[in-house]
Amino acid sequence: MKVYAINGSPRKNKNTATLLQKALDGVKESAKDKEIETEIINLYDLNYTGCKSCFACKRLGGTSYGKCAIKDDIYEVLEKLSQADGLIFGSPIYFGTITGQLQSFLERLLFPYLVYDENYSSIPPKKMPTAFIYTMNVPEEVMNQIGYLKTFHRIESVIERIFTKPLAMYSNNTYQFDDYSKYKSSAFSEEAKAAHRKIQFPLDCQKAFELGVNLIK
Ligand SMILES: Cc1cc2nc3c(=O)[nH]c(=O)nc-3n(C[C@H](O)[C@H](O)[C@H](O)COP(=O)(O)O)c2cc1C
Repeated sequence: MKVYAINGSPRKNKNTATLLQKALDGVKESAKDKEIETEIINLYDLNYTGCKSCFACKRLGGTSYGKCAIKDDIYEVLEKLSQADGLIFGSPIYFGTITGQLQSFLERLLFPYLVYDENYSSIPPKKMPTAFIYTMNVPEEVMNQIGYLKTFHRIESVIERIFTKPLAMYSNNTYQFDDYSKYKSSAFSEEAKAAHRKIQFPLDCQKAFELGVNLIK
C-alpha cells in the first residue's frame, strides 16, 4: 500500500509540510502490521502548468481518454497517484484560497476523471480515501467569519465527486517567520503569536497525526 502527501506549500519544513509529515506518521501507525509506504510530493519542485483545456482526456476513442495528456513533470506523478491507497493534500492559504500550484495540480489530477455525462460521473482507477490540511495566518474565529470555509468546502466537494469525501483539518494563526523582529509585521503581536504557537501547534500536529490514523479504515 502507498499513501502520498501532496505539499502545496513552497516551504518544505514549515507549517504545512510539518503537518503533512505528522499525518503520514499517523498513516504508518494505523497500518500496524500491513506493509505501507508513504511519500511527500513537493509541488514546488516540479515544472508544470494547470489544465490547458485540450480535452484529450475526454476525446472519444482517444489514447488519453480519462488521463491527462500533458507531458510535463506532473505526468509521471499522476501515473503514480492513480494507484495510490490514500491522498493527503496540504496547502497554506494565499489570499483566501489554496496556493496556485496546488490549484493547478488539482485541475490536472481531477479533470481527466470527471465525465461529461448526465450525472457528471467520475472514472478514477481507484476511489482512494483522501484528506486536506489547510494552514493559515488568520485565527479560527476570523476564518469562520470571512467565508474561508465556503471556499474549502467547494474544493473538498470536487475531490469527493472524483474520489471520496476528504477528512479535513485547519491550522490557524500559524507562525510565518522564524523571527518576527526581522520583518515588517506590525499587524501581528509576536508575543501573542509565540504563545499560540507554543500551545496550539503541538495540538495541531496531534490532530494531523489522528487524521492520518483515521485515513485508512
Ligand atoms: C502570498 C501569501 C498570501 C497569504 N495569504 C493569506 C490569507 O489570505 N489568509 C491567511 O490566513 N494567511 C495567508 N497567508 C499566510 C499563510 O497561509 C500561512 O502563514 C501558512 O501557514 C504558511 O504555510 P507554510 O508555513 O507551510 O508555508 C499568506 C502567505 C503568503 C506568502
